Amino acid sequence: MEFVRELFKSGNAFVARLALIAGIGGFLFGYDTGVVGGALLFVKKDLHAGNLGQQAIVGSILLGAMFGAVIAGYLADAISRKWTKVISGSIYVFGALASAVSMTTWELVGSRFVLGLSVGTASFVGPLYISELAPKRLRGGLVSFNQLMITSGIAVAYLVNYFLKDATWNWRWMLGLGAVPGLALAIGMFFVPHTPRWLIEEADDREAADEVLMRARDDDEEQVEEELDQIEEVAKEEASLRELFAPRVRKMLLVGLGLAIFQQIVGINTVIYYAPTILSFAGAGAGSALAMTAVVGLTNVLFTIVAILLIDKLGRRVFLLVGTGGVIVSLAALGVFFVSKSLQHSAGWLALVSLIVYIASFAVGLGPVFWLMISEIYPLRVRGPAMSVATVANWGANFLVSFTFLTLTTTITKEGTFWLYGAIGIAAFAFFATLVPETKGRSLEAIEGDLTSLSGEHGRERVGASAD
Ligand code: BGC
Repeated sequence: MEFVRELFKSGNAFVARLALIAGIGGFLFGYDTGVVGGALLFVKKDLHAGNLGQQAIVGSILLGAMFGAVIAGYLADAISRKWTKVISGSIYVFGALASAVSMTTWELVGSRFVLGLSVGTASFVGPLYISELAPKRLRGGLVSFNQLMITSGIAVAYLVNYFLKDATWNWRWMLGLGAVPGLALAIGMFFVPHTPRWLIEEADDREAADEVLMRARDDDEEQVEEELDQIEEVAKEEASLRELFAPRVRKMLLVGLGLAIFQQIVGINTVIYYAPTILSFAGAGAGSALAMTAVVGLTNVLFTIVAILLIDKLGRRVFLLVGTGGVIVSLAALGVFFVSKSLQHSAGWLALVSLIVYIASFAVGLGPVFWLMISEIYPLRVRGPAMSVATVANWGANFLVSFTFLTLTTTITKEGTFWLYGAIGIAAFAFFATLVPETKGRSLEAIEGDLTSLSGEHGRERVGASAD
C-alpha cells in the first residue's frame, strides 16, 4: 500500500507520530460518545436519574462541546493549536474524574458539560493541527487518523462497558477511565512542535517554522523554502474576522456548514447511541444486541482504515459520494424492514446487515471527509474561526438529532424516521455533488488560491515543484 510505504520515510513517520498524538483528542471524543449509553444503565439506578436527568447527562456534553468549539476557534489562533490541545487534555482529566465521583445527577451533568468543553475543542483542533503539518500527498490519510481515533475510542468504550458491567462502582470506572487518555493528550501535546502555519501567521517566526518543516520534509531545503514562501504569501494578507463573511469565503463557509450538518442529520449518532435499542426493536435479546453493537463498532474502525489507505489516491469526492449513496440505501432498507411485519419475523438479519452497511458507508464517507475537508478549504487567515463555526454546527446538529430520535420513532414511526434520514441523505448527496470541491493532492495554499480565486502565485501549483 502506497500510503503505508510512504510512512516509512523519516519525515513522514515524524508527522504520523504527531498525528497520532494529536489524534488522542479524537479518541477522547469517541470514548465519550461510546461510553455514555452503557454507563447510563447504572447511573440511572444509582443516582435516581429520571428521564429529564438522563437526557441532561447525555446532552450536557454536546452543549459543552458547542461552547468548547467556540472558545477553541479563538484559542487556536491566540495561543496556538498545540497549547489549546494541552489545555483540552487537562480539562478532560478534570472532567472525567469529576464525573466519576459525582454524587448527584446534577453534579454529573455539570462534570459532563466540562468534558464537553474539552471534547468540542479537541474535535477540530486535532484535524487542524495535523493538516497544517502533513505533506499534501498524504494529508487525507493523516488527518483521518483523527477519525480513526474517534472510531477506536467508541469501540474501546463499548468494550470497557462490557467488561466493567459487573464491577463495583461500574459506571464510575467507565467514566473515570477517560482520565487516562486525557492525561496522555495533555502530556503528549506538551512535547510536540507548533505547526509551521501558526508559527508564520501568528508568531511571525519563520526560523522556527523552517526547523519544523525541515524535519517533516526530510531536510529537502528547496521544498521547505517553497512551502514557507507560499505560507508567508497567504499570511501577509490582512486578517479580519469580517473576512469570514466576504463572498469568496462565504461559499466555503456554506460548504463546511453543509458537511457539518448533513454529517449529523443522516442519523449517525442514533446508530452510535442507540444501536442496541434499534436492534432490540428488531427483536434481538439484550445480550445479543450488545454483541451485535460491538460488530457495528468494529466495522466503523475497519472501514475508517480503508478510507485512510485510499483517500489520497482516489480523492475525497468519490468517498463522500459513494459513502452517502450507501447511507441512503441502507436507511431505505432499514425502513422497509420496520414496515414489514413478515420481514421482522423471518429476516432479523436484515436489520443488522443494514446497520453494518450504514456504518461502513459512513466510515468511508461523511465520517472522515467532513473533518478532513474543513481543515482544508478555509483560508489560513480565518481557518481557526471558520472551522470553529462548522464544528459548533456539527455538535448542535448532533444534539438535535439525539434528542428527537426516540420521539420521532413514536410520532412518525420507526420506518418513517429512517426514511426521513434517507431523504435527508438524498439532499446531502445533491449538495455534495454540486458544491464540494476536490482537494486531493493540493497544498493548502493552492486550495486557498483556487477556492477564493485569488490571483496570487499560490493560486496555482507551480509546475515542476518538487512533490512532497
Ligand atoms: C462524528 C461523530 C460520530 C462518529 C462516528 C464522527 O465523525 O462527528 O458524531 O459519532 O464520527 O464514527
